[in-house]
Amino acid sequence: MDTHLLFGNAIDTETPMLAVFAVDIAAAKNEKPQPVLLTSLNNIQDAARRLIESGEFSATLGEVVILHGPTGLKAERLLLVGLGKAKDFSLDRVRKGAGTAVRAAKPRSVRKLAITFPDAVALSDLKLKELSPMLTVRAMVESAELAQMDWDNYRSDRKDCSVDSLTLVVTDTNAASKAEVQRGFDEGLIVAAGQNFARSLVNEPGNVLTPTELGLRAKAMCDAAALKCEVYSSEKIQDLKMEAFWAVAKGSAEPPALIVMTYEPEIAPAAGAPVIGLVGKGITFDTGGISIKPADGMEKMKYDMAGAATMIGAMHAIARLKPAVKVIGVVCSAENMPDGRAFKPGDIITAMSGTTIEIINTDAEGRLVLADGLHYAKTLGCTHLIDAATLTGACVVALGVLNVGLFSNDEATCAKFESVLTISGEKYWRLPCTDDYRDHIKSEIADIMNTGKNRWGGATSAAMFLKEFAGETPWVHLDIAGCAWDEEKKPWIAYGPSGVAVRSIVEWVRSYS
Ligand code: BES
Ligand code: MN
Ligand code: ZN
Repeated sequence: MDTHLLFGNAIDTETPMLAVFAVDIAAAKNEKPQPVLLTSLNNIQDAARRLIESGEFSATLGEVVILHGPTGLKAERLLLVGLGKAKDFSLDRVRKGAGTAVRAAKPRSVRKLAITFPDAVALSDLKLKELSPMLTVRAMVESAELAQMDWDNYRSDRKDCSVDSLTLVVTDTNAASKAEVQRGFDEGLIVAAGQNFARSLVNEPGNVLTPTELGLRAKAMCDAAALKCEVYSSEKIQDLKMEAFWAVAKGSAEPPALIVMTYEPEIAPAAGAPVIGLVGKGITFDTGGISIKPADGMEKMKYDMAGAATMIGAMHAIARLKPAVKVIGVVCSAENMPDGRAFKPGDIITAMSGTTIEIINTDAEGRLVLADGLHYAKTLGCTHLIDAATLTGACVVALGVLNVGLFSNDEATCAKFESVLTISGEKYWRLPCTDDYRDHIKSEIADIMNTGKNRWGGATSAAMFLKEFAGETPWVHLDIAGCAWDEEKKPWIAYGPSGVAVRSIVEWVRSYS
C-alpha cells in the first residue's frame, strides 16, 4: 500500500472514498443514538446529514455506512466509520477506526482511500484535545497498514483485493506540529512494517516454516536492513553447551536454528552504555514431545514461534528507526517432537549456565530454549533483557486474550516498559515473579525442574524458571500465549496472527537511546 500524508482539506480531496469518523453523543442508556461526525468541515456534515438523521447509522464501534455521490465533496463516496460512544472516545478508538476504514474499503474493491484526521475543533468537549496529533497520526497509519493484510495466500479463492493507495488528510495544523505529525506518520509506517513482517511469519504453517526456514527469512530480512545476522544449527548449539535448547531440538528430524541479529548504532555508544537483548521463543511446532498434547486444537501450535517472530519483526523496525543503542536479537528455534531420540520426563540436563534441570514435562519446552537464549544473550554483552514467548496456557487462563502477561525482576526496567504503552497502544498486565514463588520450581534431585510443583500459578512458575537464567540482569518477560493469535473476528484487523508486542518492544528499546 502506497501511504501518503496530506496537509490539506478533506473536502477538496479527490478520491473514490473518503472516510470520516463518527461518535455517538447520546448520553442516556435508552436514548436513541446521536451520531456526530468528527470533523469541523461543514461540507462533510451537510453531505452526511440526511443519512445520520435517518437513524440508519448509530456510530457503534466498527460500524460503517457508505454514501455515494456526496454533494459538496470531491470524493466519490463518503464512508462513515463509527467509533462508539463519545464518552469512550480514546486514541484506541481512532486506531480501530482507521483499521475499520481500510477493511471496509478492501472487499468493495476500492483501490484508493482517504481518511480524515479527527478534527479537534468539532470536539471541544471530547478527550480528543488531549490526544497528541503526532500519536494520533501514528496510530492511524499503523492500524491502516495492519488492516491491509489478509492471511488468504494459501486459499485458491483469495480475492487479491487491496487498497493500493491511502491518504491521511490532516487539516488545521500549524507549522510546528506539522513536523511532529510527519514524524508520527513516518515512524508508524516503519513500526507497522515490522509488525506485519512478524505476522506473516506467524501465519506460515509448520511444514513451511521450519527452524531452518525461519533462519533463512531472518537472514534475508537482516540483509535487506543492513543488520548483522548469524544462523547456527545443531553443532554450534551443542558446542555452546546449550543442552536445554538441544534437549528440545534433538527429537526432531528438522535441525534447530539459533539466530543472532545485531543492530549497531551509527555512532558507537560509550563504554558501559546499555546493550539490549531481545530473546524469542521460536518453536515452529509444539506437539508437546513425549508428553504429547491432545489432538484437539494442536494445529494451533504452529504459532508457538510467535515470540521469535516478534523479535525478528522488532529488529526489522529497529534497523530503520536507528536508535542510539546497541540491540542483539537472539532467537531459539526448534520443533518439539516425540521421537526415539527425543528428551524424556525424568531426564536431567545441564543448561549453558551450568544450572541442572529435571525434566518433568516435555511440553514445558519453551522455557528450556529460552533458558539458554537468555544466558547466551548475557554472554554477548546484553545489559537489559526482554523475552517474548507463547509460554503457558496458564497465562491465557489468567488473562484471556486481551492482555499480555508481564513479568520482571527489576522495577525500573518494568516501569520503563509500561511507560511506552501509551505510544504502542498495547495492553499488558503485570503478574508476580517474586522470590517467594521460587518453591514452585524446586527439584529434589536437580537445581530446578521445568514445571511448577502443581498447576496453580503456572504462568508465574514459568517466569520463575526464566528468572533463574536472567539472574541479576534487568529483565522483562512477555507471555504472549493468549494474544499472539486473534481468534475473534474484528472489523479492524484480520483473523489470525496479531503481531502483538512488536510495537511495545520497539518503543521500549528506543527509550534507551
Ligand atoms: N506452547 C505452549 C503454551 C501455549 C498454550 C501457547 C496455549 C499458546 C496457547 C507451551 O509450550 C506449553 O505447552 N506449556 C504447557 C506447560 C505445562 C506443561 C507446564 C502448558 O501451558 O500447558
Ligand atoms: Mn509446549
Ligand atoms: Zn510451546
